Amino acid sequence: MDETLQHIKEQFLTDLAAVNTPEALTALRDKYLGRKAGLLANEKKRVGGLAPEVRAAFGSQVNDISAEVEARLAELNDRFAAAQEAAALEREKLDISLPGTQFGRGHLHPITLLRNRIEDVFVSMGYTVVDGPEIETSFYNFDALNIPPGHPARDSADTFYVGEDLALRSQTSTMQIHAMQRLSPPLRVIAPGRVFRRDTPDPTHNPMFFQLEGLTIDRNITLADLKGTLQKFVQLMYGANIVTRFRPSYFPFTEPSAEVDFRCYMCAGIGCRVCKGSGWVELGGSGMVHPRVLEAVNIDPEEFQGFAFGLGIDRMAARMYDLDDIRLLYENDVRFLEQFA
Ligand code: DAH
Repeated sequence: MDETLQHIKEQFLTDLAAVNTPEALTALRDKYLGRKAGLLANEKKRVGGLAPEVRAAFGSQVNDISAEVEARLAELNDRFAAAQEAAALEREKLDISLPGTQFGRGHLHPITLLRNRIEDVFVSMGYTVVDGPEIETSFYNFDALNIPPGHPARDSADTFYVGEDLALRSQTSTMQIHAMQRLSPPLRVIAPGRVFRRDTPDPTHNPMFFQLEGLTIDRNITLADLKGTLQKFVQLMYGANIVTRFRPSYFPFTEPSAEVDFRCYMCAGIGCRVCKGSGWVELGGSGMVHPRVLEAVNIDPEEFQGFAFGLGIDRMAARMYDLDDIRLLYENDVRFLEQFA
């Protein structure tokens, strides 16, 4: 065999033994078979210039070696391909007999569930649900609600101030003012929402809780309308036999004012855990809208009257679900919340 060809072949075998990546294999192919500068391609180009007696023999030697190089490269290429496939199979191995991952389905929070129920009851009585800001100026928090300067409710020990004249609302009664500004009477609205007070958290207090405000403004509204409405609400919520009672009270924005209780739905007045033995359950505050509140939003108290009420949604929830700590409702512990799915 031609000496140069013999040398190229040996060199190829040595190079081949060192190849361990597909990239190196491509480089090796170029080195020997590359059309422009490949070592064997160069030898083939020499064939035409050789003496006729040696030309055929040399030509067939170059072809043989080229064929062998080709075959060995192809063989190594197959080995790499097989290795790659095996690795991919291993990587993508899937055990279809394994149990699937369980994704828990979310559900509404107990307060939201109760709020929806309360809203449904009032909507069935012709009320509209309205929403408004949780941060308010003194006008909405106090002035328009007839809460005089120096009233303890204005004290920063009770209210979260976020600016000179801005505070988190401490009651949804602020929504009475917004509602009367937005809608002209006659109107019937409820406004559920968060309120904030500087209370130290304990089993019955939390600095944030939920109220539901109600407001009716119309001509010839009397205390009987207030009593009838809350009586009907309680019956629709807890049962047709439930009765209410009104205790005189005081709120700056109503005159007269009353606290509303209803007969305990658990024991029918005998006394139990839910009503703490009294037979009555507190519903909230209420009253006839104070003329000064109407005047603050330019409604003529001679023409229109109204009643308002404020209920504690979380307190109702705590009683309904027999919770001994109201804070459970705000901690978002899934083990607790799961029970309401
Ligand atoms: N805003 C009062 C409170 O947080 C509750 C209340 C009392 C609301 C009387 C009213 C009302 O609308 O008329 O204690």
